[in-house]
Amino acid sequence: MIDGKTRVCGIMANPVEHSYSPMMQNFFAGATGVNLAYVPLKVEPGMVEEAVKGAYAMNLLGMNVTVPYKQQVMPFLKEIDEGAAAIGAVNTLVRMEGGYKGYNTDAPGLYRAMAEEGISIEGEECILLGAGGAGKAAAYTLGVHGAKRVYLLNRNRERAVSLAEEMNGKFGREVFFPMGLEEYGGIPEGSYLCIQSTSVGMAPKTEEAPIEDEAFYRKIHTGFDIVYTPFETRFMKLVKQAGGRAYNGLSMLIYQGVIAYELWNPAVKVSAAAVKEIRRRMEEKLAGRDGNVILIGFMGAGKTTVGQAYASRYGKEFLDTDALIEARAGKTINAIFAEEGEEAFRRMETETVREIGDRMRNTVVSVGGGLPLREENRRLLKAAGTVVYLKSRPETVCERLKGDDTRPMLKGHDPEKRVRELLAAREAAYLDACHFSVDTDERTQEELAEFVYGLVNREEES
Ligand code: S3P
Repeated sequence: MIDGKTRVCGIMANPVEHSYSPMMQNFFAGATGVNLAYVPLKVEPGMVEEAVKGAYAMNLLGMNVTVPYKQQVMPFLKEIDEGAAAIGAVNTLVRMEGGYKGYNTDAPGLYRAMAEEGISIEGEECILLGAGGAGKAAAYTLGVHGAKRVYLLNRNRERAVSLAEEMNGKFGREVFFPMGLEEYGGIPEGSYLCIQSTSVGMAPKTEEAPIEDEAFYRKIHTGFDIVYTPFETRFMKLVKQAGGRAYNGLSMLIYQGVIAYELWNPAVKVSAAAVKEIRRRMEEKLAGRDGNVILIGFMGAGKTTVGQAYASRYGKEFLDTDALIEARAGKTINAIFAEEGEEAFRRMETETVREIGDRMRNTVVSVGGGLPLREENRRLLKAAGTVVYLKSRPETVCERLKGDDTRPMLKGHDPEKRVRELLAAREAAYLDACHFSVDTDERTQEELAEFVYGLVNREEES
């Protein structure tokens, strides 16, 4: 809730509409319980000084700064942190007495993203592709954390030379060796950590990589691309094909945000759980799957009724895997089991998830009770949207399914015993398949629809 005490932060950029920072920072505010709102601030060219001074006058707690203003804001700051000064770019402003102090959290964000993956820099032989804005932050990170040697490659060789000279001067040792991009063959044999800091390969030009030669990629044990659209860049693919590990820039984006948030709010820390949850949401958004909700659970848990209620209440499409299978097979599930057997039905389930997973948007799906039992299906579901496990006690299931003869899995003399056995055997698969689980026994359909909505969209961490 925004009220009279809400502190305001924002991101100044142009354009700003594409930015993930408002979503991320407002999530951190919710997760850490801080009364803070973070808004997009589109600044017109030539208005940078007015923007910084105006923000200060209006009591903004802080700002992020991005393209094209990371350098342009610098003259209007009260102080500049050492790292930001060394990189020559500022992406975070923190309010202090009389003005803002400028920081660069891209560099420590990159470092933290790498550290999380167990990638070390100290004593490493490295290659850095690109000497632009992000390249500077990456060069500084490598230098400050004790890289042994860095081959710095840039399309415009002169820029590589001047950045290398500047950084070698700063660190007082010969760390950086500049080269033109096409001179990569001159990098000695060895095993390198490579950071890709150019925008080559970024959507929509996803078929491009700065270097194509396989021989180059064979020298790389770990590739880190600062690009995260697409999720797997051509550079990453080439690194993997040559046997190395590869990472995209999403973690760097998240950690630069975490570090900025903690500079504005020194009394709190963003937890690992909050980082995990924001990563999940950003991945979904990047893949265009953010509106999808998938309901799993045992027969009689209410997947279909809750799913329908959810879809109509929140304006989404509704799909039911059992209904899709019946429509496609032209017969009931009972008939499929009787005529073709359970295995054939399970194959149809996998085909169905595979097919809808790719194309659904803003959709709620109710999934047959046995579908998450296959490992492949669990992976497909998780990749297609937010998976919610509707959990129910055996007694509730039996009560709800009394007199129902549409479920071949429950045929026999003692359906109650069968429910108990199946539930016990399936619980682990359901838990593995889901992002969230919800107890359904004491809640009505409408309550469940609302509860699930809150879970999927809530501000707090899980
Ligand atoms: C099954 C559950 C059913 C249906 C089929 C098999 C199962 O779906 O897919 O009868 O193995 O649990 P519901 O869970 O929607 O009833």
